[in-house]
Amino acid sequence: MVRKRVAILISGRGSNMVALIEAAKDERYPAEIVLVVSSEPDAEGLKRAAGANIRTAIVEHRVFGHDREAFERALQHELVQLRVELVCLAGFMRLLTPWFVRQWEGRLLNIHPALLPEFKGLNTHARALADGVKQHGATVHFVVPEMDSGPIVAQAAVPVHEGDTEATLAARVLEAEHRIYPWALKQVAEGRVRIEGEHCLIDGQPVHKA
Ligand code: GAR
Repeated sequence: MVRKRVAILISGRGSNMVALIEAAKDERYPAEIVLVVSSEPDAEGLKRAAGANIRTAIVEHRVFGHDREAFERALQHELVQLRVELVCLAGFMRLLTPWFVRQWEGRLLNIHPALLPEFKGLNTHARALADGVKQHGATVHFVVPEMDSGPIVAQAAVPVHEGDTEATLAARVLEAEHRIYPWALKQVAEGRVRIEGEHCLIDGQPVHKA
């Protein structure tokens, strides 16, 4: 089996990154993590990646000021150098331009802490609590130019309990994230996922959404 060469893009803690790294330690996993790139030089995830002997790079967005394309060209350079085939955003807190997204069309995944299309954007847990929803969760999707949109590969729902705080709900969702991201990457790396318009088919079947 030829494993797909995967880069993970982070900006912070990197717990989803760790979940992907752990899954890829198994030789039978169809992807290997060849690079972790952080937009933040102090990201905790960088230490965790280095600790797992994964090559790391820093592409600091601030250095490029408002020139988002220059930032992305630097990012692209890192990915091309390492012959990356798939890219996973894992708590990567920069919006990507259509130029970058187009380079990676169908090969760029993101994890979002909500049941998309509900609660796009930031502060998803606080907004879910404020809205009084009974179910919340996480979504892995292909990235398209429009933020937090794009064909869904996997979704997991978690219950919202009475008395939940942002922190307790976030922790419950995070557990689900760590489960579905390695699963979703596996499906994509094995070539089981076909994008049809705005939806994904896995082994020819519609994705079960929460
Ligand atoms: C995760 O909950 C991820 O879903 C979210 O940031 C957190 C990163 O945690 N991503 C977004 O909000 C993207 N808009 P991690 O660094 O421990 O994986």
